Amino acid sequence: MAFDLVLFGGTGDLAWRKLLPALFQAFRHGTLPEGGRILGMARDERTDDEYRAFIKERFDDVEPSKRPSDDEFAAFAERLFYRRMDLSRPDDYITLRDWLGERPGVPSVLYLAVSPSLFPVVCEQLGAHGLNHDGIRVVLEKPLGHDLDSAQEINTIVRRVFTENQALRIDHYLGKPSVQNLTALRFGNALFEPLWRRESIASVQITLAESLGVGTRGDFYDGTGALRDMIQNHALQLLTMIAMEPPASNEAHAIRDEKLKVLRSLKPFDAVSVARDVVRGQYRAGQINGQAVPGYLDEVKVPPGSTCETFVALRTEIQNWRWAGVPFYLRTGKRLATRDAQIVINFRQVPHPIFPGAAGANRLVIKLQPEDGLELHLMAAKGAGNSDALTPVRLDLDFDRAFSGTKRVGAYERLLLDAIGGRLNLFVRSDEQEQAWRWVEPILEHWRTDPQGPRPYAAGSWGPASASALVARDNEAWAEEQ
Ligand code: BG6
Repeated sequence: MAFDLVLFGGTGDLAWRKLLPALFQAFRHGTLPEGGRILGMARDERTDDEYRAFIKERFDDVEPSKRPSDDEFAAFAERLFYRRMDLSRPDDYITLRDWLGERPGVPSVLYLAVSPSLFPVVCEQLGAHGLNHDGIRVVLEKPLGHDLDSAQEINTIVRRVFTENQALRIDHYLGKPSVQNLTALRFGNALFEPLWRRESIASVQITLAESLGVGTRGDFYDGTGALRDMIQNHALQLLTMIAMEPPASNEAHAIRDEKLKVLRSLKPFDAVSVARDVVRGQYRAGQINGQAVPGYLDEVKVPPGSTCETFVALRTEIQNWRWAGVPFYLRTGKRLATRDAQIVINFRQVPHPIFPGAAGANRLVIKLQPEDGLELHLMAAKGAGNSDALTPVRLDLDFDRAFSGTKRVGAYERLLLDAIGGRLNLFVRSDEQEQAWRWVEPILEHWRTDPQGPRPYAAGSWGPASASALVARDNEAWAEEQ
C-alpha cells in the first residue's frame, strides 16, 4: 500500500531520535508498506541528499543493534525526501500540496512534531490549502495543552479542519507491546475477569519510575512537571486499561468509549483531597548506580528556586460498581532508584486463614519495562520438616523469552504503522484527553497557591517519605517495600 508520511519538524529531536529510527526499524522488519515516501520538512533550505546525510549522521546516536549499515541506510534513504517549510508561509503549503499531488489518491499522514503552540497556524494553513481531505490524517504529538482550557483550544482548532477520525493523538505508552498485553491479559483470557473487581482486589498500584533526570530539557520540563508529563496521559491511560469494562469489540470507538467511562468515574479532587491524597516531590543531589548526580535545581536551564515537581504519588478511587472503595495509587518520578514501570494488583487476604503464621495475599505484578512480563505471587507449602506454615512463591513469565524469535516492535514503530494503516485503537480521542485534564485540574489549581511546594527527595531513592505514608494509611506498602 503506497503512502506519504510528512514530518513537520523533520530535523527536530523527536524526528531523528524516535520517528525516523522507528520508520527504519519497520523498513528493516519488512513491515513498512512498499511505495511509501517520507518527507522531512523544516525551516532550513536543504536538498533531499543533504537531508539524508543529516539523518544518517544522527543515526550514529541510535543504539548499535538498531543502527543501519551503510547499505541498509542507502536503501532506506531512497524513500526520504525534504522540502523547506516555514509554517506561516502559504507558499510552502503549496509546495507540500504539489508534492502530495504527485500521487493522487495515496493516503497521507502529516505528523506534527512541532510545538503545539504552532498547531493553530499549521491547521489553518492545511485547511486553507485543501490539505484536510479524506485521504489525510494528522498525528498530534504531546504535550497537547497544559491544562483543560488550552487542550480544548487546541481541539477546537483541530476540529475546525479535521474530523475526529483524522486526528490521531499520540500517547506513546499505548504503542508499547507490554501495554497492549494489558488488554490481551484482561480480554483474551477468561481466568482473571471473575476476580477483576472490588470483591477480590484490595488495591492497585501503577508505578512509572525513571532513573534519568531531566537532562538538557530543563526549560521544557520546568514548565510541565511530572503531573502533566506522565500522570495526565501515560499513567491515566494505563489506569483506564486496568479498570475499563470489557468492550463490545476491539474497534477503536468501543475501546475508547470504555476508557472514557473510567475517566469520568474517577473520584474528583477538591482542595482537601489534593492536600491529603497527592504528594509532590523534587529531587535533590544523590546517587544513581553509585554515580553522584545533581539535584533538580542544579540541572541546566532550570530556573533558580523552581517549585516544579519531578515526582507525584496520589491515591484515587473509581466510583462505579466494579471498583467502589478500591484505592488506585499512581506514582511517577525522575531520578528514582531504578527505571521500572509496573502495575501491581493486590488481591485480598483469604477470608479465613487455616495455616499458621502470617497469611500472605496474592499479587499479580504486570511488568511493563524494562522487563516485559507477569509475576503471580502465590502461597505454597514448602514441605520442609513438619511445619504447615506457607511460603510465598512466584510464577514468573517473561514475554521476551516466551516470544523469542519474534520481532517485537517498539512503541513508535507500532504507532507509525497504525497511523499509516488508519488503525485508531492506540490513539487517544479528544474527549478522553479532555476528561483527563479535567481530573488533574484541581491538583494544578491547589499547587498554584500552596505555599508548601514539593517535598525534597534524594536522587536514587523512591521519592519523599510522605509517598510511603500515603499508602501506609490504608495499611498498604509500595511494591519495593513489601
Ligand atoms: C515522555 C515524557 O512522554 O515519556 C518524558 O515527556 C519521559 O519525560 C518519557 O521520560 C518516558 O517514556 P519511556 O518510554 O522512556 O518510559
